[in-house]
Amino acid sequence: MENRTIPLLLTILFFCFCLTSSTFGQDTTQYKFIGAEACGKCHKSEKQGKQLPIWKESIHAQAYVVLQTEEAAEVAKEMGYEKSPSELYECLSCHASGYDVDKIYLGKKFNIEDGVQCETCHGAGSGYKSLKIMKNRDLAAKNGLVKVYENTEEFCRNCHNPDSPTFSGFDFEEMWAKIEHYLPVKKKSTK
Ligand code: HEC
Ligand code: HEC
Ligand code: HEC
Ligand code: HEC
Repeated sequence: MENRTIPLLLTILFFCFCLTSSTFGQDTTQYKFIGAEACGKCHKSEKQGKQLPIWKESIHAQAYVVLQTEEAAEVAKEMGYEKSPSELYECLSCHASGYDVDKIYLGKKFNIEDGVQCETCHGAGSGYKSLKIMKNRDLAAKNGLVKVYENTEEFCRNCHNPDSPTFSGFDFEEMWAKIEHYLPVKKKSTK
């Protein structure tokens, strides 16, 4: 009996482990979220494409904070929830990162208050953040960088869909134009 129970328990544990992930299309559990500021160390200047300042000015940076507003409380209440939206998995799943992983997977500079941040879309970055790995796309992908450019619109629709209680449609071209943050060397991804 015992000989069978142990592998069964291990299998269950493994599946639980795989399910714990707060970025789409990738198992991020082995990587830590380092936080937007840490990505911004190299993605800040004009020369690099100003990804950090572009993101900071985007609504995505407010996606957690908006859950603390009166408006959000109303939305949650109407849906029958009693807890505050910023404590609800059902809201955090599209409004934040790192809410569903053990604290050991959150780097010192990671802030849940940063809402939908670099790693919410690009994948937890502790594995690919070094310059050597970042400069090699295949290596970066092997170390946790999500290939968001393969089908960007579908990717956005992971959150911009009718499961959002305030959804009122999603025009990809228009919405991407509001947050685009290309590297300066090229205008369009080659892959
Ligand atoms: C040590 C500096 C450094 C850090 C830290 C860093 N990056 Fe980068 N990153 C770069 C450089 C340099 C490039 C450009 C590589 C090239 O020209 O191919 C790049 C490229 C990228 C790309 C484009 C890759 C592709 O396949 O098109 C993405 C996306 C990206 N970084 C996201 C992030 C995110 C998210 C973080 C934080 C988790 C981060 N980076 C942290 C230096 C860095
Ligand atoms: C809402 C999701 C989202 C967030 C938040 C986000 N990105 Fe991106 N990022 C994308 C998508 C999608 C692309 C690919 C666009 C394409 O290639 O058409 C991209 C592309 C990039 C590229 C490569 C651009 C190129 O020219 O190939 C870099 C570098 C990058 N992001 C860094 C960052 C950094 C750093 C942050 C945080 C400061 C960040 N991103 C936040 C979705 C996001
Ligand atoms: C992890 C979930 C998530 C993903 C993935 C995501 N978004 Fe969002 N997005 C949000 C949330 C949540 C808000 C609302 C935040 C707020 O109101 O504070 C938002 C708001 C926006 C807004 C502002 C709304 C407006 O009407 O101006 C734009 C633009 C936007 N997203 C573009 C994109 C694009 C383009 C992509 C794909 C590259 C994308 N988003 C992917 C969660 C996401
Ligand atoms: C499926 C992803 C998703 C879920 C789940 C989700 N949201 Fe959002 N939320 C979004 C997106 C995307 C936006 C921005 C555009 C829109 O309204 O669809 C947004 C915008 C908002 C806004 C800003 C108002 C507005 O009209 O832009 C509030 C407030 C909000 N959400 C509250 C909540 C609350 C409360 C919950 C949980 C009960 C929740 N959301 C769950 C994706 C989601």
